[in-house]
Parts: sequence; C-alpha cells; structure tokens
Amino acid sequence: MAVALIVAAGRGERLGSAGPKALVSVAGRPMLQWSVDALLEVSEVQAIVIALPADRLDAAPPQTIAVAGGETRSESVRAALDAAREVEDEVVIVHDAARALVRPELFSASLAELAGSGADVVIAAAPVSDTIKQVGDDGRTVESTLDRSRLWAVQTPQVFRREALVRALSSSAELLAAATDDAWLVERQGGRVVVLAAPHENFKITTPLDLRLAEMLLLERSSM
Ligand code: CTP
Ligand code: MG
Repeated sequence: MAVALIVAAGRGERLGSAGPKALVSVAGRPMLQWSVDALLEVSEVQAIVIALPADRLDAAPPQTIAVAGGETRSESVRAALDAAREVEDEVVIVHDAARALVRPELFSASLAELAGSGADVVIAAAPVSDTIKQVGDDGRTVESTLDRSRLWAVQTPQVFRREALVRALSSSAELLAAATDDAWLVERQGGRVVVLAAPHENFKITTPLDLRLAEMLLLERSSM
C-alpha cells in the first residue's frame, strides 16, 4: 500500500494565470482534479495528501487531506509528508498537480518497479528526443554533445521508499531550495534511483501553450 502526495502549492508564474496554477480549469475540471481522479483508480493508494496555497485549503477534493505548501516545491513535499505521518505506508508517491495528463497505469507501473527493482526511488521519465549540447562559460560556444541514448527528461510520479524520502527532505534549506526534484536529493545521499519509461504525453503544464495542448488532449480523452 502507498500514500500519495500531490504538490499543488505553486503560483504558476510562467502560466500567468490569475489564481494558483493547480486550480486553473482544464477541459472542465480544476487541473489538480485530473491527478486526483487518476490516483483514486490506483488500488494500492490508501491516502492522498495535497499541498495547496495556504489560503486555498478549501480547494482539496473530497477524499483527500489538505495541507499548506511551502515556499519551494521541496518544502511543499515536506509539508505533505508531515501531514501523512499517521498513514503508515512504507511507500510514498510524489506527483505534480501540473502533470494533469498522468494515467493510473503509470502510478501502478512505478509502484511495481519499486517493489521489483529494490531501488530507493523510481522516477517516471521520457527519453530525450532532441540532441542536447553543453555550452561553455560564454553561454554560447558548444563544449560537448551529450550521448542522447543515455538522457532522460524527468517527470513525476516519483515513488520513494519512505525512509529514503524522509532522509532526503532532512537536507539543508539551501539544498531543498535548489532541488527541482526530490530524487536528486536521494542521489546526492548515495541512494539508488532508477527511471521508468513514461510517455511524453505526461508533460508538465508550465506555459500557456502547454495548457492549450493539455486542454485538447484531455477533451479528446473525455470524448472517447
Ligand atoms: N509546487 C508546490 N509548491 C511550491 C512550488 C511548486 O507545491 N512552492 C508545485 C506546483 O504546484 C506544481 C509542481 O510543484 O504542481 C511543479 O512546479 P511548477 O511546474 O514549477 O509549478 P509552479 O511553481 O506553480 O509554476 P511557476 O514555476 O511557473 O511559478
Ligand atoms: Mg515553479
């Protein structure tokens, strides 16, 4: 069994919406609701905790536990994990509300991979399709071309053995602020992190263009 933490306390500055991004309507539902609905279909999930902006705790859907998020994403994860203290599962799923296109199967497959691989963390990730080059200090002269076959664009869900996540989130405030994903904190502590191939469809809604694309894909899904 597992507990799921959804981080939904961001401001959505790049989207430029009036209110919090996770509550923006996408294909007829608040963005956050899509991930909650997917998680409710996963039989291993016995509790869902959502980190929300402190003044919008009322926006948590029924059957979920609301908690005020923090200044950074990792602080929001930590707040949600604290709120899940009473739920005794050994496995914790962390998911971004901004990935509204997530499918229940991706959660189930991540949980199965954690159990089967013996890793500390399993992260959903998509193979990189662009060629990636690294530039030097001048910001434009190419220094190297990375081996694309070994590059993965990281997504959520990220599924953790609970003690690995607790240890990762006890890192300094400085490291927490620098972490764009929590698996990086586990990596730094020598934990084993493995990727699970996930579809590009599970992209993060960041910009107005992403929102238009998500709207189109989710409307298409609802009509099927
Ligand atoms: N998040 C959070 N608490 C924060 C910052 C982010 O819970 N202090 C959540 C967001 O709500 C989102 C996820 O982390 O679901 C990924 O973050 P991102 O896509 O960067 O969302 P925002 O921070 O809201 O967007 P922006 O960076 O454009 O302001
Ligand atoms: Mg952000």
